[in-house]
Amino acid sequence: LSILVLHGPNLNFLGLREPTIYGSITLDQINHGLVVEGQRLQADVTTLQSNHEGMLVDAIQEAFGKHQGLLINAAAYTHTSVAIRDAITAVNLPTVEVHLSNIYRRESFRHHSYIAAVAIGQISGFGADSYRLGLQALVHHLRPVPA
Ligand code: DQA
Repeated sequence: LSILVLHGPNLNFLGLREPTIYGSITLDQINHGLVVEGQRLQADVTTLQSNHEGMLVDAIQEAFGKHQGLLINAAAYTHTSVAIRDAITAVNLPTVEVHLSNIYRRESFRHHSYIAAVAIGQISGFGADSYRLGLQALVHHLRPVPA
């Protein structure tokens, strides 16, 4: 099983950026944690961060036929990007949406997600754990555990 993890704009600044909201963990630490969790779940994890909407669209298109699932924190593009949503629909890649912060207890412009309606589900508010929980949920969705 191969999973693509995409991080949107400004997430390369994690650790420095608004630590009271996003915590002190860096993106490298999050990515390392996901690779380790992936090994435990027997899933290959590839990570990519971009500040550019079109780059994220390209990465989603290139995932077609290469990865079986997408874990995405589209960051601010969550609230603006029809293009990222359409890319997910186009490649028909099972997707889990994650956010470090709880977007529903923040400004109202963060309450709407273009990704949510095309995702299997969303995890929001658990800091770096949102990613780990999201990866687990995605892998369990793709490879259901026998009862
Ligand atoms: C975020 C929430 C977004 O509203 C914000 O624009 C981000 C990060 C999060 O992980 O909490 O950049 O996606």
